[in-house]
Amino acid sequence: MAKDTVTITDNRTGKSLECPIKKGIHGPPVFNCQKIASELDLFTFDPAFVTTASCESKITFIDGEKGILLYRGYPIEQLAKNSTYIEVCYLLLNGELPNKGQLDSFSDSVCRYTLVHEGLLSFYKGFRHDAHPMAMLLGVVGALSGYYPDAQDIKNPEHRRESSLRIIAKMPTIAANCYKYLIGQPYVYPRNDLTYVENFMHMMFSVPAEPYQFNESAVKAFKIMLILHAEHEQNASTSTVRLAGSSQAHPFSCVAAGIATLWGPAHGGANEAVIRMLQEIGDSKNIPAFIKKVKDKDSSVRLMGFGHRVYKNYDPRATIIRESCHNLLDELDPGKQQPLFDIAMELERIALSDEYFIERKLYPNVDFYSGIILSALGIPLKMFTVMFAVARSVGWVSQWMEMMEEPNLRIGRPRQLYTGSAQRDYVSIEKRS
Ligand code: SDX
Repeated sequence: MAKDTVTITDNRTGKSLECPIKKGIHGPPVFNCQKIASELDLFTFDPAFVTTASCESKITFIDGEKGILLYRGYPIEQLAKNSTYIEVCYLLLNGELPNKGQLDSFSDSVCRYTLVHEGLLSFYKGFRHDAHPMAMLLGVVGALSGYYPDAQDIKNPEHRRESSLRIIAKMPTIAANCYKYLIGQPYVYPRNDLTYVENFMHMMFSVPAEPYQFNESAVKAFKIMLILHAEHEQNASTSTVRLAGSSQAHPFSCVAAGIATLWGPAHGGANEAVIRMLQEIGDSKNIPAFIKKVKDKDSSVRLMGFGHRVYKNYDPRATIIRESCHNLLDELDPGKQQPLFDIAMELERIALSDEYFIERKLYPNVDFYSGIILSALGIPLKMFTVMFAVARSVGWVSQWMEMMEEPNLRIGRPRQLYTGSAQRDYVSIEKRS
């Protein structure tokens, strides 16, 4: 019977190391190479962590080949259709779907934390009115760590639970304040009589001058978008939150680090970049010329919203958004022309029949269509990644909580291959040429 090990042999010395293979519930097994440095005096080398499992987790599973995404074992399609965002938050944090009593109690706990300290509002004033709201979100969430010194005691499970509730509860308030500051409208305080999604929309879109009318289709679209963006295993921003958390940093500063990482156009900033790309293309007749630029090795142009480190098939979230796009757009703006959506659909059709994308297994990811729905919801381009960050805050804190509960939490500290100058002695300036 073959042993569940991988043997690594250094052919220069003939020394070997047997690495135990560990299997998960789904997905490829891993081999534990932690002894490779001490036994073979070797480091593994895996820039961008393409083939490295950084941790063991029970939260999310992605099958990139089959385009499967599970939150605590539940398919994303079923959660997007049947669940609510606050219920998904409970599921991600606790591992099980709540009964009615648990859900009501959790939802009530989150409600109790939606207000932010009034002093926090003064931070917005330091930003120019045209500052990118991700800069504001990053700054204000980072500043939040100055208001809860107790949360620094990350070994206290009650403080950890409270921090996770505060982050989930306050992100919509802080995000909506960013939007209000951006457009020069007064901040709108949270209301505990509304659901999580309604409250977020109320703080974003209502004005003191008149009552806010909820559009049922818009609330449904908002809910779906938040659920789809909630969690995605060890993506760049979550890995940042874990690495920051491994140093036992304040949880809010870990989330701020996640926000900073998500902002990049290669990651969460792609939803904004997709719309700018579609606007630049302007008309379906320009798509062939754009695709030609993307395929030109000398151009740095990428088809934003396409490709994924893990998905080598359709991102199931993109499928859900695209399928709900049509009816949601018709419900939100009946009969209104959707030129960007039409260009996106044509761009997808052309790309998916082009060898360049097929051989590289480049498919639409969650960001390809999300901007179209966010636009239809009346969210300005600059706020797209802020929406992503609000949704993902539960994923960040769920992964952070999971890591904090590990018995032997160690600081993350990757090594390197040094290829700089060999050791040399200092030369005084007089002797330098
Ligand atoms: C998110 O990790 C997550 O889970 C992230 C996320 C989450 O929920 O947290 O899913 C959210 O970030 C989605 C991805 C959003 N980003 C984009 O849409 C930006 C455009 N896509 C890429 O830049 C790229 O596809 C990445 C960043 C998403 C993935 O990069 P990889 O895995 O490092 O792939 P790569 O850059 O090594 O590309 C492999 C090949 C290259 O060609 P060759 O050198 O082999 O000839 O594919 C090409 C790339 O040039 N390629 C693209 C492309 N993406 C990859 N070519 C054109 N357009 C693209 N979008």
